[in-house]
Amino acid sequence: MAESTKTHWDMVYAQKTDDQLSWHQDDPAVSLALIEKVDATSASSVIDVGGGASRLVDCLLAKGFRDLTVLDLSQVALQNARNRLGKTADDVVWLCQDVTSWMPARSYDIWHDRAVFHFLVDQSDREKYVDHMVSALPIGGHAIIATFAPDGPSRCSGMPVVRYSPDELADHLADNFEPMSHHSHMHYTPWGMGQSFQFSLFRRIR
Ligand SMILES: C[S@@+](CC[C@H](N)C(=O)[O-])C[C@H]1O[C@@H](n2cnc3c(N)ncnc32)[C@H](O)[C@@H]1O
Repeated sequence: MAESTKTHWDMVYAQKTDDQLSWHQDDPAVSLALIEKVDATSASSVIDVGGGASRLVDCLLAKGFRDLTVLDLSQVALQNARNRLGKTADDVVWLCQDVTSWMPARSYDIWHDRAVFHFLVDQSDREKYVDHMVSALPIGGHAIIATFAPDGPSRCSGMPVVRYSPDELADHLADNFEPMSHHSHMHYTPWGMGQSFQFSLFRRIR
């Protein structure tokens, strides 16, 4: 991933408030429902890949989860989230990393990605992402991946994205993951524009 991509995301998070970010949501309800669906307990380890300044970590902390990691390319995004959480931020592991070059040092029960994989427009980056996901999840571990759906926007934050149907996404993961369920979701930006997402839940089988 080019250094300019990191600069882009740092600038976005430095210049915009949460309600100026199209992807912002106060309540990550679909993600939470899918985490519940895999029978996660507060002892489950969760990594939010490309978590940015998402509220998912706040919600999981409030539910008692204590093994939480947020990974993002943008140091500014992570700092914004840490500032918001205050002292509780010390209970979270914050990784400023590019998911396509990061080497996981441990494994997790749940991999969560909302609106990151779809930015990987090069096949080689998608392959690296999947390799790292496989390294980070044991057999039986779960992955939740949310992308723009085929009728969703073709760009986000000024950058091109790849839109996926659940089947198309499952094809990218087929060597190691079986799809468990998928859900259509209309996200409304803070200014009320609908964006069509698909959320897919996978289990690592090989
Ligand atoms: C559209 S935002 C979504 C943020 C968050 N997942 C949410 O739902 O609010 C995309 C995020 O992916 C991060 N990102 C983009 N490319 C990345 C990469 N290669 N590695 C890690 N994070 C990346 C950006 O910094 C940004 O925070």
